[in-house]
Parts: sequence; structure tokens; C-alpha cells
Amino acid sequence: MPNGIFFNVNGRDIHEENVDPELTLAYYLRNKGKLLPPFLKLLIFLSIPVGLRGTKLGCEEGVCGSCTVVLGTWDDGENKAVYRAVNACLVPLFHVHRTFVITVEGVGSREKIHPIQDRMARGHALQCGFCSPGFVMSAYALLRNHPDPSIEQINAAIRANLCRCTGYRPILEALYSFSPESGGCCGGNKNGGGCCKDQKSSDDDEGYDDKLLSFNDFPKYDSTQEIIFPPSLRSFQTYVDSGDLVTLKGDRVELAIPKTLEQFKSARADRNVISSGLITRFVTSRNPAGFSQKWITTRYVKEFNEIKMSQDHIEIGAAVSIQTLADTLSANLSDSIAPEVTAFIQKFSSPQIANFATWSGAIVSASKSSISVSDVLLLLNVLNASLVVLSSDGDLERVSLDTFVLNKLYETGTIVSSQFLRKDTRRLFCLKLGETSEEDSTNFNFAALIGNKKQETRIFVGLGGQPKKLKELEKYVDCGDSYELEEMYKVSGLERNNNSAIALTRLMSFLKDGRKVEAKENVNYLQYFKPTTNDCVGRPIANYFNERAITGEAVYVNDIQTYNAVHLGFVLSTVPHAEIVHVDFTEALKLEGVIGYFGASDIPGSNIPGLQKSNIMFPDDTPIFADKKVESVGQVIGVIAANDVVLARRAAKLVKIKFNLLKPLTDFKEARETGSLHGRVQHYGKEEKELVESFGKAQKVLEGEVSMGGQEHYYLETQSSLVVPGEGDELVVHCSTQGTSFTQLMVAEVLKVPAHKVIVKTKRLGGAFGGKISNPAWIACMCAVVARKLNRPTYGFLSRADDLAITGKRHGVYAKYKVGIDSNGKVQGIHYQAWLNGGWSKDHTEPITMIMGTLVDDAYYMGAVRFDGYPVKTNSNSNTAFRGYGNPQAKMINEGVMRRIAREVNKDVEDIKKLNFAREGETRYLGDRILNDALLECWEYCTKWSDFEKRKREIHQFNRTSPMVKRGIAMSCVRHGLPLPGHQGHGIASLLINLDGSVQLSIGGTEMGQGLNQKMMQVCSQALNRPIETITIVDTSTDKITNAPETGGSHNSDTNGLAVLACCEKIMSKFKPILDKNEGDWEKSVREAYGAFVPLQCTEYGYVDRKKFGFGDFEPPYNTTGACAVEVEIDTLTGYNKVLRVDIVMDVGESLNPAIDIGQIEGAFMQGYGWVTCEKITFNHTTGFLDQNSAGKYKIPKASDVPKDFRIKLLGINKANGAQVYSSKGIGEPPLMMSCGAVHSAIMYCVDDWRKENGIEEFVDMISPLSAEKIQQLCSK
Ligand SMILES: Cc1cc2nc3c(=O)[nH]c(=O)nc-3n(C[C@H](O)[C@H](O)[C@H](O)COP(=O)(O)OP(=O)(O)OC[C@H]3O[C@@H](n4cnc5c(N)ncnc54)[C@H](O)[C@@H]3O)c2cc1C
Ligand code: FES
Ligand code: FES
Repeated sequence: MPNGIFFNVNGRDIHEENVDPELTLAYYLRNKGKLLPPFLKLLIFLSIPVGLRGTKLGCEEGVCGSCTVVLGTWDDGENKAVYRAVNACLVPLFHVHRTFVITVEGVGSREKIHPIQDRMARGHALQCGFCSPGFVMSAYALLRNHPDPSIEQINAAIRANLCRCTGYRPILEALYSFSPESGGCCGGNKNGGGCCKDQKSSDDDEGYDDKLLSFNDFPKYDSTQEIIFPPSLRSFQTYVDSGDLVTLKGDRVELAIPKTLEQFKSARADRNVISSGLITRFVTSRNPAGFSQKWITTRYVKEFNEIKMSQDHIEIGAAVSIQTLADTLSANLSDSIAPEVTAFIQKFSSPQIANFATWSGAIVSASKSSISVSDVLLLLNVLNASLVVLSSDGDLERVSLDTFVLNKLYETGTIVSSQFLRKDTRRLFCLKLGETSEEDSTNFNFAALIGNKKQETRIFVGLGGQPKKLKELEKYVDCGDSYELEEMYKVSGLERNNNSAIALTRLMSFLKDGRKVEAKENVNYLQYFKPTTNDCVGRPIANYFNERAITGEAVYVNDIQTYNAVHLGFVLSTVPHAEIVHVDFTEALKLEGVIGYFGASDIPGSNIPGLQKSNIMFPDDTPIFADKKVESVGQVIGVIAANDVVLARRAAKLVKIKFNLLKPLTDFKEARETGSLHGRVQHYGKEEKELVESFGKAQKVLEGEVSMGGQEHYYLETQSSLVVPGEGDELVVHCSTQGTSFTQLMVAEVLKVPAHKVIVKTKRLGGAFGGKISNPAWIACMCAVVARKLNRPTYGFLSRADDLAITGKRHGVYAKYKVGIDSNGKVQGIHYQAWLNGGWSKDHTEPITMIMGTLVDDAYYMGAVRFDGYPVKTNSNSNTAFRGYGNPQAKMINEGVMRRIAREVNKDVEDIKKLNFAREGETRYLGDRILNDALLECWEYCTKWSDFEKRKREIHQFNRTSPMVKRGIAMSCVRHGLPLPGHQGHGIASLLINLDGSVQLSIGGTEMGQGLNQKMMQVCSQALNRPIETITIVDTSTDKITNAPETGGSHNSDTNGLAVLACCEKIMSKFKPILDKNEGDWEKSVREAYGAFVPLQCTEYGYVDRKKFGFGDFEPPYNTTGACAVEVEIDTLTGYNKVLRVDIVMDVGESLNPAIDIGQIEGAFMQGYGWVTCEKITFNHTTGFLDQNSAGKYKIPKASDVPKDFRIKLLGINKANGAQVYSSKGIGEPPLMMSCGAVHSAIMYCVDDWRKENGIEEFVDMISPLSAEKIQQLCSK
């Protein structure tokens, strides 16, 4: 019998002998794999799973879901396979023995695509594609168990999968199409009947298509076609299946695998018990020190896995997963308890975790901690479960949960099982609260089992560690069914705060009326666009790349496989400001496989390449490695190179740095007050004297302030580079960057080689949002230094925690304004002062201050305008570019100004906004004319289309009858001038026609999910009149396109598109006559052109010749414009918000691809929504550490946050002036600017309404984000 474990991946049997207990399934699938020993080759089909890289690593913490795979196990009792989605980044490999592992590659391929993949790919449900395999796998697990899922089941299955690009709507729509409840459409039918198909088109919608696609025509899902459970898993055995005690030995951990309770008892002694081992492995792997630990698993011992049912009791083994425990209880407890258990565990923050982690692990981890709040521990407490515990003496005893926790029996005892009373008819009430929603990781929980007079009531509250029993309250609520909150508070002894108020209020309502069944929510997803008669441009064609990403075939930098590579671990500063006295890396170098430490002294060229002449952008003083001093926690001091990424990260943590601490400035307020700046204060607009004059003429002068937080990009693919050294000084840099040329120049400066030695290649990025302009270059430089020194390929792949610590974010801003108005609220003059938190180095802070300042007038004409911008230096993350580049911050300030004016003159904010709009033909405050603009048309259209005024009246009525839950509605708009002026405003393309007639395109812009490549192929196809299938677009690479500006600023389809058009025109100028002569025979003409020396390749520039069109140098040739109406609801008690309906009207001219543009709008909407609600950036002012230093602590919007009614219309007004590519306009950033404004204003509508109703007159200045906590604060007396 062979040693080791046996499992099957995607139908291929695998045998692994030496399994390190610290190894995760994801790591194994992506990097490892072994041949079976030759004698076994005869027995089973052999293959090597090396390089299954469809399993993506977005966080490695169990939070993002991008590593989701499916595990199938055989249920002997039911005689069938059971499938569950799990996070491969956390699942220990040793626990997949006899398991069927299905990865995205096993679900389908481009040749044989699975219906989930097909519907997502063609349904535009992905952009960068990095998250997509994870969504496929979560949905796949669901379909394998429930081929006809309900909408609710679909929502539950993907609730722990994050996507930062799409805004989730198309993902939901594609997956809802599998539900019989949806009728193949949006899923609205069952959810209240309001299906998009039932929408009556109004006159306004005449001439528009109203859906990007319908799923009715897609091949039906046939569950019988699924890959079967491999029979080998039921027959083949290894030594692990023998009756013997087996051990697996890793570098630091040894795992004992007993098969009987007796073996367990004899081997237990000094070993840590693990059940699933998921959290134990995770915690252990974070410990960098060399140590030796011994574990023992309960997984293969019958007693720990049994579920026994008697008439009165259910006994559930300790190695059973949380989900199975919940399912068992739900199926077997009384009707007064079971549904609540189901609902409660459905709020567990991650189904992938609940599917694998065990209830026993959950209760022991929680009991050991004084801060973690466990839902499982609470549930077991309230249900009065008893435990069977194996004592250190080997005795089995039944104890109560209280006894187990209070006597700390977990220190010596092992839980074998728990027992529940079956026929309990008491009524169960459970509550869970997270930071952003009830499905978020738990901050507080509360549960009550309500008895009648003869029975006992049990009430527990979870505040951390063992839940607290509320004995007095238990007696009190036994007495009747009508209660007073005050009395409940008094009796319970609970501290008065929002959480306890929510718990007691909901309990009172439960006691009175029972659990209210939540109304099904109406789903209404509509996308209107004007159909085109073009063959290619203007059609909502699915991105050619979608199928590659959805099948796991798409290659991101960290997926590239090389030979003999090293991996970097990053040594980070742990203090905010200090001199570096000494770096001691001896401990790190002792680890086998660690190659070396590299820092500033290893750089042959410049350590601050951003200050060298080749950086023509703007000077940036960021050093690659901290040299002599550090200015922020998270600043990179050096790197460790090792043969393996896990080892490199671990070794980096062993590097000891001696610091001489200096006074830090981590507090933004303090930094502002001390005048700590990057460069000079930036002034734009009028002199102060003129402002004073305008204020003198104004009826009133108002003052206010605005405070908004930063935002983490949270691209799903973290920063990654791979540098492959070549001959001489040559290097190829594969980099997830928005700026290939910038990265090339920076690497060349650092290595002190000419730029022509460095080729930077970018195939695609897994999201960027501005965060991959400067930071990727620095990571690439670090890799290049090591690659050059070691002459080995070098990977730099940041863990999520390192990415959060090292990289910059959106600038948080504090601003003051002074505005003069007339009696109607028309602005006469305004003085803005804005302080941007730049962090420790310049990065993009100065140009962002400049953009914010020069465009601060936003959509308005405001008379005399002055802006003073302060780029503040603090000892925290160095903030950088982020979608909108200073514009969203300007928008938010003006939202605050308009709300303030509206309050002053007692008018609606929307009226004040409209009154102050700058119109087409007028000039912006710095003199640029407003040209080719449809702002007013969008605004008027949106007002009417969304039925804004009527709904506002209805909301007013609703709020009068709803004291706790308030609704609000608001409109916002955007005007964004494009393309950018200066050298940023040009695109470059290269076109090659091969002798077989195929066309190869490359451009200077990078593909990061925004659909640039697809649009360029459509432009090329249209211009050459060739089928799109005959065209390909290759990596952005500096050896094809040099000096390309960084991709960003929403205009890349315009600038690159103009370049592609120029290429096509140039080629066709000589090729067309040959083609005409050959009556359109393309291939023949290509061969003929070749023979006649007619060029079949060219490189061209694309830019708008402003002079030709009569524009000034900085005048935008056109504006992308839009308006949106957003309706929200807030629960003033929990502070949770819900977006009820969104209507967005945008003019993007004649869209190059409506599906891509609508995707950009939806994604931007959700990102803007996140910025002003759940996304927080805060620092510990003592230590300088970012508070949100892990994936789980930074909250981005989830699929459950998508508005249930989401309507978008591309107006297609297109006031063309000939400067556009096929009359299209840029998108990307603009929708974010209006979503953040509208969402914020709509929430403030609710807050203001509540405050007014409660007699609070004080005006609330603009503050963002409006987190649940903030809303609670604002809505309390
Ligand atoms: C991303 C994520 C989201 C989460 N969301 C939630 C949430 O929403 N709500 C919530 O309540 N929790 C949540 N958790 C916590 C989760 O429930 C626990 O981490 C998990 O259940 C631990 O179980 P395990 O099987 O991994 O434990 P293991 O790693 O096997 O063990 C954990 C601890 O328990 C001990 N132990 C294990 N088995 C036994 C036994 N039989 N007898 C005695 N001691 C034993 C081990 O020695 C160890 O100390 C979340 C965790 C993660 C990672
Ligand atoms: S959940 Fe595994 S990588 Fe994010
Ligand atoms: S498509 Fe989901 S993260 Fe990019």
C-alpha cells in the first residue's frame, strides 16, 4: 500500500507522498504536483496537475473567493457525491485525501465550455477576469447539488466572492438565468414579479434596445453531462486508509493521523488537536520563526465524524463542518427553531469557510479569544448543546458548554461531539451584526430561545469569547409578550449602545409578532442603448478575452511559469518615521532555500528613479528601497530572495531592523496644522482681492467644511512583476502595470542601463483603477535588481497584506469653502481650500492636487473662483492615482456646497444644482470653453426618466410613517472633458498583416478590464472591413510600442483608437487598390502586396489635433456627461444602507461597444458607492499602522449591495465634432464621480430627514464615508 494521500483533480488521479501539513491546496494546484511512482502507473491514469493557475490568489485569507474550488466527497449513507465550494488558499492539502478536487479548468474549456462559463462570458459578467474563476466555482458547486437553484440559493452561493470591476449586476444576471424562478431572464419574476421583461417601454425608450442580451437562447443546462465522481476515489487506498496511525512530516509541522479513538488517545499527548485545520494552518503559517509543532487530526476517526439521531437527540461529531451542522439541525429540529438556524448560518460571512471549517474549531478558537465573536458558539449556547469531551486521561465525559469554556477544558480535552435536544418547541431568535451588514464578519450577536411559562428561556449575547448569559432578562421575557425597551435595558444589564438597542428592539418585535417573513425584493436590471447598423463598431460584442478568463486560461503575471526562478519577500518598516541604524538578516539567511537579502546598497543606478530626467511626468521622490531612513510603516527596506514565495515571505519577517525613532506625523490634522507639504501650495483662479469683492456683492456668504477619507484600490490581482534576465544587460519585465514605458524607464534608471535593454510586457492586469501606475514600477525595479544580481528570473508578487501596507490609496481630503450666493442660491464666488493627504512621498500627489484644483468648478459656473491646494506630507502610505484622479474629491466638495446652499435658501438641492450649472458655450473658471456637451440633456432626461419628482414626494410620505427606516433620493451629474491635453493625450498603435492575411494589432494602452483591447479590435475590424476573428491583439510591449503614456484618464479608447484608425488608413492607402483589383480577396491581395513591396505593417500616433478643430491647447474637444438619480434606504438603528433604485443616463456619443461602456458605468457606480459608504482608511496614530491591514478588514461592496433596480441608458446624443473615434466618447472614470455624489447626497437626505423629525436643526457638513457607524452617530440624539 503506498504512502501519502490520494485524490483526484479534474478527473486525474493524484498521489502525493510527502505532504507538508502547512501546504495549502491552492499552492499545490498552482505550483506543485508529482508523478505517481512507476508501479502505480499501471493502476491509474496518470497526469501531473502542475500549473493549474485558474485558481487565483486575491487575498490568501479566505475573504475574496477568487481561489474557490469545489471538493466532491462520497457520502456512503446517501450513496451519492456531495460537492462544496471551498477556499483553496486556506484548505490544507492533507485534508483532500480521497476527495474529488474540481478547479475551473475541470469545469470547462474554450473547446468545451460549461454553461456557467458560457453565460458569464457572453453575458459580459467579467472585466479583468481575475475574480471570475472563483465565481464559476461557487456557482458550479451550487449546480452540482441543486441543478435548479432558487434565486436565494444563488445569492447565498456567491456572497463571499468579491469583484471590483463589474459592479456584480451582469454576474447576478448570468447566474440567475439558471434558476427556474427567473424564466431565463433577470430573476425578477419570483422576487416580486417585477421582471425586466415586464417593463413597459415609455416613449422615451423608443429607438433603444433595452437589454444587452437575453439568456433565453443559450443552451440549456444539463446536469447529467457533468463529470462523474471518480470511481478510483472509492476503491484506491493508501496507507492513510489503513487501520494504522500515520504521520505526515513537513519542515516545521508533523501531523498524526489516527484512525481509531484508541490511537487518538495514545497519540494525543503533546499534540495540538485540529479538526479541519483550516484556521490552525493559517495562523501557524504566519509565524516566521523556525519551530517544530505536532498536530493530530480528528478527521479519520469515526467517532468525530458521526451524526447520530435518536428520538430525542441529535449527536454531531466534532469533525463535522459548520454547514453540515447547520443543515443537520435545520432538517431535524422543530419548526420553531430550524428555520432560524438556517437563516442565521446563511449570514455566516463565507459559505466557503462554513463548508470546510468545523464547528468544534469555531467554538474552541472563539473560547480561547476574548475578542472574537463566534456565531457557532452562540448558537450552541442558546440551544444548550452539551459536549462529549475526551479528557487527557482518556475518559469520555459529557459536559455543558459553559463548563467546557469556563473550566478551559479545551486546554487538555478534545471535543468528540455535541448533543442537541430534538423536540424542543421553544422559539429561536438570532441576530448577527457586522461592520457593514448582517452577512459581514461578526461584530456582535445575540440569541434567545423563548420558552412558555413552564419552560426555560435562554438568552445570550456575544461580545467576544464566551457569550454572556442574560439571566435576568431570561426571567423577564418569560412573563408576557409586551415589553418596554427601557425596562428591557434595565433588566438585561446590557451596556447602552446601538448594538444592544438593535438586539432588544428586534427581540421585542419577535416576542410580539414572531419572525417577520422578509418581502421578496423586486429585481429590475435594464440597459438601454441605441442599436447600430455598423458591422462591428457599436455592437455589444462580448470581450474576446472573456472565454479565456472564465476557463482559467488567461495568464496574469504571477501565472507565468519560468525555470529556476526566485521569489521575493518584502522587508517592511514597522515604524512610521525613523533612521535605520542596522539591518540584521542573519536569521533569514539561515533558512534553507533563502538566497539573499537585497537593499538600497545593491542598486547600481538610481535609488530614486522618479527624480531622473527620463521621468518626464513629474518629479517623484519615492526611493525604491528605504535608504538610511523610513518615513512610513510599510515602506520597503529590502527584499529577501528565496526559492519559494512562502519561504521568501517567511524569511522577510525574520529580518530585524534597528531603528532610531523620529517624531512621526501620522495624524492628517496635525500634519495640516504644522504645514508639512510636498512642494508648494497650489493656487488657481482669482486673486483673494477679487473674491472679497464678489463676497461683498453677494447676499450671503456661507462657510463650511468637507472631510472625506481615502480609498483602497482593492484590485483583485495584487502587484506583481516577473523579471527575466537575458544576455548582457537585457531584461524582460512582465509587469502588471498601467505604464509599460514608465516601468521600462524606471528599471533602466535603477540598473543604470539604456532603456533599450529593458523590454516591459503587459498582457493584462487583474484590475488597476490607477493603483498600477507608479507602484508596479517600484516592484519591477526591486525584481530587476535581484534578477540582475542573481541572474535568475525573479518574481515579486505581493500578498494582500503587503499590498495594503506598501501601496498608496486614493487621497483623503479635508477642505474648507467660503461661498457667496444671491437670494436664490446662485453662486457669486467661491473660495476653496483643500488639503490632500499625500502620505510619505510625492508619488502623484502634486498632479492630483493640480487636477483637483483646475477642475474644481465641476459642472457649475460659480463666478469668481479661487482654489488653494495643499499637498500634505504625512508618515503614512504614499497616496497615488485612483480612478477620477482628484475629480471625485472635487465633486464631493461641491456636493457639500450645494447641500449647504439648499439648506440656507430652503430649496431642494437638485434645484440649486441646476441653477448653478455651467452651460455649453460658457467657459469654465480657468477659461476653457465647454464644447460638445450634453450635461443638461442628461440631467433633464434623467429627471423625467426616473420619475424623480413623483418619487421624491412618495419618499416624503413614506418617511412620515417610518420613524426608524428612512428613505432618500438625490441626483448628481458629471461633466468630464476629454481627451487629456499634452503628451498624455496621445495613443500609439502598430498594425501588422501577416502573409496568411491575419492581422496583428498592438497598442500602447494596457488592458486592465476596461475592454480597451476589445474596442480596438472592433475599431480595426470596422476600419479594415475584416471579420474580427481574423484580428488579434497582443501584449502591450515596449519593443513594439515605445514611449506610450500611462493608461488612465478615461480617454484611452479615443487616443489608441485614433492611432489604430491612423494605422488602418495608412495601410489601406496603398493596399486598397490591390484589394479592389482582386475584388476583395484579402489573402490574395496580401500576397500580392508583399510581392509588390507594399508595406504591410506600420506604427502610427493618434491624438486630437486641437488646432485643426479650433480648440485651445488645454481645451477639451468634448465632454462625457451624465446624470443619475439614486434612491436609498437607511436603517437609523443599525446604520446599514441599501440602494433601492438607480437610474443613470450617460452620453458617451456613439458607444464603441455598449456592453463594455455599461459595464464601466456599473463598476464605477459600485466603486463610488463603496468609497462613500463602507470603505474606510484609518491609521493608528501611535503605531502608524493602517487599521485595515488585511483583506477582511477593508470592506468593498458585495454582490448583495447591488441595487435591485438598476437602469442605465446610453443616450447617444453625440454632439460630434469629428475629433472622436467613430463618434464615441471616453468612459471609465466619469460615472464614479456622479455615483459618489448621488449616493452620498441620498443618504444625507435620509439623515437630514431623521434629524429634522427629531428636532435637530444643526447642519451636518459633508463627511465621508457614511459608514454604518457614522450613520448611527448622525441619527442619534
Ligand atoms: C474568512 C473567514 C470568515 C469567517 N466568518 C465567520 C463568521 O461569519 N462567523 C463566525 O462565527 N465565524 C467566522 N469565522 C471563524 C471560523 O468559524 C473559524 O475560524 C473556524 O470555524 C475554525 O474551525 P477550523 O475547523 O478551521 O478549526 P481548526 O483549525 O481545526 O482548530 C481551531 C482551534 O480549535 C481547536 N480544536 C479543533 N478541534 C478540536 C476538538 N475536537 N477539540 C478541542 N479543540 C479543538 C484547535 O486546537 C485550534 O485551537 C470565519 C473565519 C474565516 C477564516
Ligand atoms: S479567498 Fe482565497 S485567495 Fe482570496
Ligand atoms: S472582473 Fe471581477 S475583479 Fe475584475
